[in-house]
Parts: sequence; structure tokens; C-alpha cells
Amino acid sequence: MVTIQRLITAALVACRTATGIPTIEIKGSKFFTSEGNQFYVKGITYEFASSLSSSYLTNGQQCKIDAKLIGATGANVVRVYSIDPTLNLDECMQAFADEGIYVICDMSTPTFFINREKPIWTLNLRNQFAKVLDGLHKYDNLLALFAGNEVINDVNTTIAAPAIKAVIADMKGYRDLMQYRKIPIGYSSTDETTTNLLQNYLDCGNEDIAADFFALDNYGWCGESSMAKSGYDALYARANGYDIPIFLSETGCNHVKNRSFNDQVALLGRDMNDRYSGSIIYEWTMGVNKYGLVEYSNDQATGTPKLLADYTALQSRWSTLNPVGVKATAYDPTLTKRDCPQSTSGVWLVEAKAGTEIPTLGLSGFTAPTGRQASATGRIPTSSIIVGSGSSSDSNKLESGRSGGSTKLGGGAIAGIVMGAIFLFLVMCGILLFLWRKNRPKKEVTVNPGDDAPLKGELDATSRDMTHQPIYQELSGAKYTQELGPSHAQYELRTDERPGELPDQRDEHQHLDDTGHYAPEFTDQEPAAEPSPHVQAQRRREMEWLEMEEMRMRQRREQLMKQGGAG
Ligand SMILES: *[C@@H]1O[C@H](CO)[C@@H](O)[C@H](O)[C@H]1NC(C)=O
Ligand SMILES: *[C@@H]1O[C@H](CO)[C@@H](O)[C@H](O)[C@H]1NC(C)=O
Repeated sequence: MVTIQRLITAALVACRTATGIPTIEIKGSKFFTSEGNQFYVKGITYEFASSLSSSYLTNGQQCKIDAKLIGATGANVVRVYSIDPTLNLDECMQAFADEGIYVICDMSTPTFFINREKPIWTLNLRNQFAKVLDGLHKYDNLLALFAGNEVINDVNTTIAAPAIKAVIADMKGYRDLMQYRKIPIGYSSTDETTTNLLQNYLDCGNEDIAADFFALDNYGWCGESSMAKSGYDALYARANGYDIPIFLSETGCNHVKNRSFNDQVALLGRDMNDRYSGSIIYEWTMGVNKYGLVEYSNDQATGTPKLLADYTALQSRWSTLNPVGVKATAYDPTLTKRDCPQSTSGVWLVEAKAGTEIPTLGLSGFTAPTGRQASATGRIPTSSIIVGSGSSSDSNKLESGRSGGSTKLGGGAIAGIVMGAIFLFLVMCGILLFLWRKNRPKKEVTVNPGDDAPLKGELDATSRDMTHQPIYQELSGAKYTQELGPSHAQYELRTDERPGELPDQRDEHQHLDDTGHYAPEFTDQEPAAEPSPHVQAQRRREMEWLEMEEMRMRQRREQLMKQGGAG
């Protein structure tokens, strides 16, 4: 009976996916919707610059307001820097899904991250990151996850690269063990002198340990720039033949006021759209670093914000940039993985052999969904990983105690149950599909009348593998039925740790050193050598918090002194 329930549950999950917003998959160096259309990221970072709270995606009402406004820019992605997987994100995720918007999220939180000074991937961290996957996997509009954000920011911190790769390897292993869909797991990098090596390092080696995609933060294009002046030509060159998707996880220089977002023409147009998968604009909310597209009347960033000039500029820029790319069926790339960079003093300090010796922890302690272990066992990738700590053998010891119910059944009984379940599945899918079609809002397909985007430069279109065409990717109108999702309590996380705590952002992302990270290759004319605005904002919040603490301590000291004087 337990087995039937599980099969039905699985069927319901499959049905929901079938009727929801298409999920995003990777083929070669490109993202595709599950319907087979290429997907370009038109993203906006979604955070509350002035808030100390990190309970992102928990205020459903506010998400509805924001998702509408974000969707109206033409965005199809928001980036969230951290979530608390123990909180309920259903309403917010639904609000974004309703607007055809995907969410890309960091797995690290202000409390749990790879420390660049002492880069150690611990069981504690592993279990917390796994909880983020547990919390988010059920949302069809989860685009991807970052295993780290700007951890490496100079030559010395390249020593953190193996730990980052171990995060990717173990989380991919966990994702597959739990039979979650192939949620892309990658990394969001700074852009400085070592970035091209990191780009190779995270890609090289066995599929099981390599990043699914690579992203980088780059503010090199300011105002009316050009491919050469901004350094985007170097970005483009670096992505030549790269076998996994690459995009900018932060961009949007504001050194020239009233931003024109001209770089979007390069990224989404012919200049770059055959190698890059778009970008994410920094940032939604106006804060002291002045990158905001909208301004709220209060620090909590609630209510309907005022739309600023940059909002309108981005909206009109994006309205002309709707690359179609290739269809998944027509795309059959032959791409090879990069070679692992060799350790080089003063350049790349990773000693481990050929980039394949990474400190993975394996999957010990995790329990696959009961009743599906046989296939799960086959999928555990850690056996092929060279593990420094030698603990990977544990990962094959899957819990089997709880599958007793199904193993007592004879083969015939199981076959009957399976047939029954398949029948039920089909019937339910039919009913759901019927209901969905009936309730589905009329899709608005925006097709711009033949006006080509203002592309910079005359480039030989035939030399690139796709053209820029102004047809809007149909993302709106999709509905998915959250309520059909089962609670994800079909497995156990063997961990003693308490759920992730997200007290505030005072120790966010260890972004507290003062090393600039914009590449010398951009320095001739563009602003360079300064940390990304997100990092700067984190520092400012840290300063504010420290000042508040100082004031509190001073007051307390004065109080005690007064009491001492009185007593
Ligand atoms: C990098 O490490 C070396 C050797 O420990 C040290 O001398 C140098 O100051 C470090 N550089 C930075 C930027 O921290
Ligand atoms: C530039 O932005 C400012 C502030 O939002 C606005 O008042 C001004 O009208 C804008 N100028 C142009 C030329 O759009």
C-alpha cells in the first residue's frame, strides 16, 4: 500500500510538472525550456538593499506586487542571494511563476558558506546546502542554484577552488540521489585575472564533479561603451567552445548616470548571443549604492515602489531584444571539456592533481526516497570521484531499512501495482490536463513587427550559429498547481544540525576584505578594481550593524557605570 501511495505521489508530481511553467534544462552550452526552446536569461537581482532581514521570498503579498512590475520590464529571471529553506516560499515562487519568471538562488546563506580564508567543505555545510535543494526542488520555476558567490577574488584565494568544486560535486550527487530533476548547479564568480582559470577548473574533468554552468559578475560596460572598450570582447573570446552555459550573474554599471543598458544589445544580440545565455541586472531596489530600478517609500521595501528612469530604460531596451536561438532538437553540439589548469606560483595555487582531487564528502547519511533505491544506487556518482578524505565509500551505504514493505511483495503483485499506478497516473494526468486547459488564460504572444534591434557593429551573421530575431519567448500565462505537490517528507536527512538560521546579514558571504576584483583587462578606460556593488552593500550593512552594536555597548557601559556610581 505504501508503494502505491508513493507511485501515485510520483505520478502527481509528474502531472504538475507537465501542466506548469516549463522547467529549464541544459544541453551543451545552452539553456532550454522543457518545451525545447532556447532560454536566454533576462534577469534582475531581487534583494532589499536597505534591509537587515534575509527572509527573502517569504512575503507573498509583496512578491505579487514585485513580480508584476519585474515581469513588465521583460525580465524572465530574478536572482535571490539567499533563502531560508525552513520558511514557506510557496506564495512567492508562485507569484513569480505566474509572471513567467524563474528564480536563481545561492545555496550559501549569511551563516553557511565556503570561507575563502579557510575553505573547508564540512558535513555541516553539506547538510545545510542539501536543505536548500530540498526546499526549492519542487518549484518548476527554480532555474538553477549557485554553489558559491564570489568566493575566489584574487590569486591567494584560488586555494578555495577545490572546495567549491566539491560543493558542486556533492550537491549534484545529492540531487540525483534524491531523484530531483536535473536542477543546474553552478557558480557565480568575480571577474578578475584568475577567472578564466576558474572557468576552466570548474568545467574540467568528469561530468559528475564538473559545474553544470558558469556565471560571472562583470560591470565593465558603462554607458555608450563598445565590445572592445568594455572588455566584453575578451569575455566573448573566453567562452569560445565552452561546453556549458555561461552568463553574467551581475551586470549594470552605473558610473554613467541614467543607464542605457547598452550591454544588453551586445549580450542578447548577435555580438554575443551564440556563446552567452544572457545576464542579470543589478539590482531591483534602490539603496545607497544607487543601482536600484525602483524605490520603495520604506526600508522594509513593501508596497508599490516608484519606478525610476532606469526601470523604464531597461524595459525599453529589453523590449527590442528577444533572441530565439536554436531549438533543442536542432542543436547537436560537439564540445569538449576544458583542461584543468596547472598549479602555477603567483597565478593559480591549486596543488591537487589535474583538478580532479577534490574534497568531496560523498552522500553518507542521506537516505534516498524509499522504494526507489535500486535506481538511486546506480546513480550515485561519488564512486568515480577521487576523494581526499577517503570517505566516499560510505556514500554507497544507503539506508534500506524502510523499504521492507515493498520487498516482501512478490514480483506479480508488484507488476500489478505498477500497472495500476500507471493507469491511475494516466487518468489523473488526463483530468489535470483537461482542467488546466479549461482554466488556462489566453496566452499573449508578443511578436514585434520585424524591427531588428539596434545591433552594434556589422558582424557577419553567418559566422555565428544563430541570428537575432525579435520574437518574444512565450513565458506568460503558465499556471502550475502548487497544491498538488506532496510534502517532501519521503526521505530523511540524517543530520543533527538545526535548520539553517538566518539571523541577519552581518556576516554575509565573507565579503569583508578590501580586495578589488575587476580585471586589469578592463582598466584602460572603464572603472575597475572595486568590489561588486552587492559586496559593497554587504559591507555597508556590516558597518551599520557594527555601529549599532557599538552604540548599544556604549549605552550599556554608561548604564553600568551609573549603577556602579549609585551603588
Ligand atoms: C598572498 O599570499 C602571500 C603569501 O602568503 C602574501 O605575501 C601576500 O601578501 C598575499 N596577497 C594578498 C593580496 O593577500
Ligand atoms: C535621468 O534620471 C533622472 C533621475 O531619475 C531624471 O530626473 C532625468 O529626467 C533623467 N534624464 C534623462 C535624459 O532621461
